[in-house]
Amino acid sequence: MIEVLSVSRYYGSFPAVQDVTFQVQSGEILGFLGPNGAGKTTTMRMITGFLRPTRGDVRIHDVSVVEHPLEAKQYLGYLPEDNPLYPEYTPREYLTFRAGLYQVDHVQDALDRVVERTGIARVLDRPIGELSKGYRQRVGLAAALLHDPEILILDEPTTGLDPLQIVEIRELIRELGKEKTILLSTHILPEVQQLAHRVIIIHQGRIVAEGTPEELARRTAGGRVRALFRAERAAVEQALRSGDWVVGFELREEAGGRVAAVVVPRLQDEDPRERLFRTAVEHGLTLLELGMEGASLEEVFVHLTEERESREEAA
Ligand SMILES: Nc1ncnc2c1ncn2[C@@H]1O[C@H](COP(=O)(O)OP(=O)(O)OP(=O)(O)O)[C@@H](O)[C@H]1O
Ligand SMILES: [Mg+2]
Repeated sequence: MIEVLSVSRYYGSFPAVQDVTFQVQSGEILGFLGPNGAGKTTTMRMITGFLRPTRGDVRIHDVSVVEHPLEAKQYLGYLPEDNPLYPEYTPREYLTFRAGLYQVDHVQDALDRVVERTGIARVLDRPIGELSKGYRQRVGLAAALLHDPEILILDEPTTGLDPLQIVEIRELIRELGKEKTILLSTHILPEVQQLAHRVIIIHQGRIVAEGTPEELARRTAGGRVRALFRAERAAVEQALRSGDWVVGFELREEAGGRVAAVVVPRLQDEDPRERLFRTAVEHGLTLLELGMEGASLEEVFVHLTEERESREEAA
């Protein structure tokens, strides 16, 4: 288990990470979501002991990363954002070199194990510089797995990959997640929705939201609901005016006695589609179509930050 305890990191006077606290439970895949510059990499480098927090501490199985970085690192496999590899080495040479660095016992066994886990047998003796980006990510993952750590810290593992490679690497991460505790950063919302059990959202160095992907999807559904009714325009208008969950709406009459509606819901925990459905039923309106346009991720981050700030002011 990872405990991140009130960690802050300043670059000069610039606060890249401010008072961040969260835990990663054993066996969990935790998604660490945030836009560019949010502080994901900085936080992960502090967790892995590569960067000293300005304040706070990180404990891995109760071992302080600040006080005992070498001991704490035993538990961790780390795939850094830029996945630094030596292009002139082959994966076999590189992994052998890394195994020496980690003082891995039984190097050949460890090599066999990670080669098999990451599916790189085919490219083991080709220079890394000639491999596809997807295979290079696999080699990076293989290196992170050499000392058989319980926990994997993966910093944007799918960035820069083509769509097919993304699917393959996600599948590999999902497989690894069956055995390992994983902290995975990304700025892609669907990625965490597909992979993570729980998500933490960071924006401008602070945690702005935390929850399961489903909870977050609901809270961040600040977008718009689109609906198509078979009803009188006036009846739809009256129904939408009656709901306190409606911030605004636009209606357009279509052929065949149908009315298309775009509804802006108040942001709340409930899925606004359910509210609209019930509103339609209560008013005896026939609903032909119902859909949701999600807010952009940037809108979501800004919204969650504002929500958090207003909560703090209220407190
Ligand atoms: N070595 C450094 N010196 C000064 N500022 C830095 C340094 N490293 C990071 N920063 C700043 O700290 C903030 C957080 O950066 P960080 O790399 O942690 O973000 P990130 O969430 O990983 O972003 P990305 O999605 O682009 O990788 C950014 O504003 C960045 O410019
Ligand atoms: Mg980063």
